[in-house]
Amino acid sequence: MNSTPAPRVRPRRLRETPALRRLVAETRLDPADLVLPVFVREGASAPVPISSMPGVVQHSLESLPQAVADAAAAGVGGVMLFGVPEVRDARGSGATDPGGILNVATRVAAEASEGRLVVQTDLCLDEFTDHGHCGVLDPLGRVDNDATLERYREMALVQAASGSQLLGLSGMMDGQVAAVRDALDESGFSGTAILAYSAKYASAFYGPFRDAVESTLEGDRRTYQLDPGNRREGLREAMIDIDEGADIVMVKPAGSYLDVLADVSAASEVPVWAYQVSGEYAMIEAAAAHGWIDRKRAVVESVRGIRRAGADAVLTYWAVELAEWIRKGDAA
Ligand code: PBG
Repeated sequence: MNSTPAPRVRPRRLRETPALRRLVAETRLDPADLVLPVFVREGASAPVPISSMPGVVQHSLESLPQAVADAAAAGVGGVMLFGVPEVRDARGSGATDPGGILNVATRVAAEASEGRLVVQTDLCLDEFTDHGHCGVLDPLGRVDNDATLERYREMALVQAASGSQLLGLSGMMDGQVAAVRDALDESGFSGTAILAYSAKYASAFYGPFRDAVESTLEGDRRTYQLDPGNRREGLREAMIDIDEGADIVMVKPAGSYLDVLADVSAASEVPVWAYQVSGEYAMIEAAAAHGWIDRKRAVVESVRGIRRAGADAVLTYWAVELAEWIRKGDAA
């Protein structure tokens, strides 16, 4: 009689109890590795809810300090600021106006942070241009790479002077890291760091972000953001940015690009971050609101998966809530 031999190799042994599972967990979450994106709306007298991102608001300058203090109290590592200007124009003038919303918000956030977390700023023109592109346009309506670099250089100086410690270059122009690095170094800001959104894909998952910053886009971003089918090109972009002097590189969105994240993480000598974007947030919130998934478990799993794939830190709209779950031991 042939009976099946008892298995000698039993991976289930290490899954037997919560204590064992905790001890052998390969990926842990830490509030310090989370960054909260924060929207600040010019002229707002109170926080304004964003309908496609339930639980996320556009802050007013008045509500911003408390939001920063709450993030710091939760142990979150940083905030990434986005400005929502009242007026937009072709060259995105508000971006380089020291009195523009993002730059004012940076000063407010830097003060409120009291050094407890890292104040970071989105360095891109799309929130400030009336056509919604990440750069300025040439006479034929195409995004003009090199003219845009000049605008980014100006933005970098204003943001650094406003107190941003880490500039998030999200515009995907060629040469943007080198251009901004040179501008900073030439003007006495050699200590201001650059987070390069290196592998930023032309993604449908940015949809709710357009609501959040109230921007409408003429056309699409496919001449500068990456084609979602391209894996090798994501790694190449990250390597170029590291060569140009990026202090940190990022993959964005996160959930649909974990392979790119793993590649960049394996090859990079600088920290690698990932951005769990607005659409990734909205999908889980919507499904949870219908009772179709367990909200907390889905949030924790999504961020753990991003960490497991190789992200050293994660930008996520759940940063504060997740940090609280982590601190309560509720996020394994
Ligand atoms: C560009 C920028 C975008 C996001 C962050 N920075 C929009 C875009 O490139 O289309 C999207 C973030 C999100 O969807 O959460 N300033």
